[in-house]
This record gives sequence, C-alpha cells and structure tokens, in this order.
Amino acid sequence: MSSLDPIPARTLPATARAPGKCILFGEHAVVRGAPELLVAVDLYTQVIVRPSERLRLNADPEALEHNPYLRPALEAAGGGISPLEIRSVSRLPRAAGLGSSAAFIAALSATLAAGHGGMDRGALAQRAFTVERSAQGVGSPGDTSASVAGGYVSLNADANDGEPLWAVSAGEERWEVRRERDPGWVWVVAYSGIPRSTADAVRAVAARLDRPDGPRLLDEFARVAGEGISAVAREDRPEVGRLLGRNQELLREVGVSHPRLEALLEAAGPASEGAKLTGAGRGGSIVALPKPGREVELLRRLARAGAVPFAVRPSTGVELIELDERPSDAEAP
Ligand code: PMV
Repeated sequence: MSSLDPIPARTLPATARAPGKCILFGEHAVVRGAPELLVAVDLYTQVIVRPSERLRLNADPEALEHNPYLRPALEAAGGGISPLEIRSVSRLPRAAGLGSSAAFIAALSATLAAGHGGMDRGALAQRAFTVERSAQGVGSPGDTSASVAGGYVSLNADANDGEPLWAVSAGEERWEVRRERDPGWVWVVAYSGIPRSTADAVRAVAARLDRPDGPRLLDEFARVAGEGISAVAREDRPEVGRLLGRNQELLREVGVSHPRLEALLEAAGPASEGAKLTGAGRGGSIVALPKPGREVELLRRLARAGAVPFAVRPSTGVELIELDERPSDAEAP
C-alpha cells in the first residue's frame, strides 16, 4: 500500500490501472485550505494505449470534442495530439463522487508517462491534477493524489499526522499531501443513482462560505476533519462514526445534501457507526463505516433503499499492469 515506486518506462502498447477514491472527511472545505482525508478504493479504471493511425478513445474518433480530459492529458504528456488507440474500462459509476474522472486521468497519464520514459509519482500527481483542473476549472488535488498514491491520504493535515508525500499547486494555491495510517477497516459506499456536477457544487459552496457565517463554518469543517484524521489513525471506530455524522451536518448546512442521500443515510443508520455523503454531494454517493460484523446487513439495507452499494478496501495507487497479449487464432498452433 505504501509502495511509491516511480512509474517505469514501457514501450507502447501499455496498460495501467488506477483506483477510485472515497472522501472520508473534509470535502468542499479542502478547496479553502481545510484538512481532508481520503482513501483510494479497490474499484478501478483501466486504460490501454496502443500506437495507431488515428486518435480514438473507446472507438470514438471525435473523442477530443467529447472527453474534456483527453487533450490536456495528451498535451501534458509531451507527445502532442499523437495518433493513439485508447481504451478504458471502469467499475466506477460516473459523476458519483467516487473519483471516476481522477482514476481515468491517473491511468491515462501513467500509461503515457511510461511511453515517455517513466515518471516519479509526485510529478505524476501534479500532472494529473493539472489535467483535471484545466477541464473542471475548480477544485483540489485530493482525488488525483489519492489515485496516484493509493491508501489513506490527507491534504492540509496537521504536521503531526502521517508522513509527507508531495505538494501539489495551481497558481498561488498549494496543498500538502500526506500518507495517513491504514486502520485496516472495510468501508461501504453506495451510489444514489443521481449524477451531479462537481464544479457546480463547488461554486455553490464557495458562494455559501462567502456569507458572514462562512468563517465559522469553515473552522468547524477544519476541526471535524482534523479530529477525524486522528480518530482514524488511532482506530477509534465510535469516534470516527460520530465525526462522520457531524461532518454530514455541516455539508447539509452548506446545501449539498439531497433527499435521496438523507434517505440512504437513514437506511444505513442501524448497521453503521456513522455515515455521510462523500464527494461533491447534491446526489452522488454516501460512505458508511459498518458496525463490526454487520457489513452484509449494511449492504443489504442500502440496496433495499435503492442504492448501488459496494464494500471497499484501500487500494494501491496507479500501476502499470501486464498487457494480456494472447496469440490470436491465426498464430495458435
Ligand atoms: O468530484 P467529487 O465528487 O469527488 O468531489 C470532490 C471534492 C470537492 O471537495 C467537492 C472538490 C475538490 O476538488 O476537492
């Protein structure tokens, strides 16, 4: 989990697999510099890149018009808009708050970096964020850094927590990314089926935090996330559950909850230590910490309430994997 090996050089065709993520504490407030805790989860996006005669993404020759990350990712990799056959497959629902965009960007950027001689992970985290930022215009590097680093990752945390990994910047803004301790827990995430736009939610919260009580709310977000990071590191399940609930109250107060999310949080209640929405909100997903031994009951409760639930564990960060190049029928003996 703590393997931070550089991305090695590979000749194309090559393939990489990158994890999605779940935000445990601090979404939205992180954009204003408050702490955030994320965990990379074992739901993956895999990208395969092959030399080709023309550029296509999942067989779409117009993909540069349709996919906002493709052009910036190709340009950042230094090869210009080269003719490549790119395919991606994913278990992550899109626009669900589970980091599908970051996983696609991390897997594509790692594969392209491998084709250009390999890359250090800190530089890859910066590149993946720059690509995401150029398409979304707003936001923090939490999702992309979690997908590149794997495991538990914090932003803007107290220097007493975790170990420094790297710093990521955009213009004047700068975020410190740290490796946090893995308590060895299974988490449950559940997608409500309601897609939403991260950028729109971030802008709405920014407007809310500019009102007179904004600084008080931001302080409270920061306190809850800071305490959450410590409680996870010392494996204090009841306290983590309580803080998840407090973080949810704050997210509700800044207007990013949704009646469907509230219904899922209620359904999760009896089988979980605590739960909250995860990601930008206004739809998307929730995350719950199961009561010990009640994981299956929690999954069943959320499915019965109409969500798509997943039991997730921490994952390693983006990695190149072996391309399965079985001989074709013509070559077979
Ligand atoms: O894209 P999502 O749903 O994972 O939301 C990202 C978390 C925010 O704090 C709302 C935005 C950000 O970039 O940090």
